[in-house]
Amino acid sequence: MKLTISRYNPEKDKVPYDETFEIDDALIKHDTMLLDVLHLVREQDPSVGFRFSCQEGVCGSDGMNVNGKNHLSCITPISTLSQPIIIKPLPGLPIIKDLIIDMSLFYQQYQDVDPFLQTEPLDHEKEHLQSPEERAKLDGSYECILCGCCSTSCPSFWWNPDQFAGPAALLAASRFIIDSRDIKHIDRLKDLDSPTKTFRCRHIQNCTDACPKGLNPSRAIQELKSIMLKDL
Ligand code: SF4
Ligand code: SF4
Ligand code: FES
Repeated sequence: MKLTISRYNPEKDKVPYDETFEIDDALIKHDTMLLDVLHLVREQDPSVGFRFSCQEGVCGSDGMNVNGKNHLSCITPISTLSQPIIIKPLPGLPIIKDLIIDMSLFYQQYQDVDPFLQTEPLDHEKEHLQSPEERAKLDGSYECILCGCCSTSCPSFWWNPDQFAGPAALLAASRFIIDSRDIKHIDRLKDLDSPTKTFRCRHIQNCTDACPKGLNPSRAIQELKSIMLKDL
């Protein structure tokens, strides 16, 4: 099996370049994941840089672009990938080293939508109750693991990363905008009601296609726009 991996060490390389590694097919089983193969690559060359932690699709740290599509390597069966396997860092963000990117802008976009429940009065003795129907509305909007696979596959994010909020942050914003307990509904909508922050989304659905958790940021953004038109 051959893997071509994008390499870049800012201390010695002017631009990224590709390096091909060969892995013995006898080491590959039917349930081998791409991350397992990357560990084998690292046995050949310990300097190959990539992030990982949980190794089971929970932490969101091993997003990478594989054969042109963003994936989490730990839950991508190697048997589903056509060869040669071409691996690049998630697109649209600065490369720190090899497959490791600087996620600062992505996290800043998340922070900017105040991703926490705001209720009143602040009383730790009081429960903020929801009906089962109100709770059910949050399904599909709270399960995000912040892997970045969606935002870094979005053309609107690539071209206007400083203006467009990006699908992950907008999904997070929608999670609180539709929460019956949150009292900042109108403030949150007003903050996002701009031609660039939200309406730069063209619903091409790259984000939804890329999400390894099966979430649908594109639909959440569409619903967000509808709520803006109704409530503002
Ligand atoms: S649907 Fe919107 S957020 Fe998703 S990739 Fe397309 S432009 Fe980006
Ligand atoms: S919405 Fe999906 S692709 Fe985007 S950051 Fe969350 S889990 Fe990752
Ligand atoms: S290593 Fe945690 S999601 Fe892949």
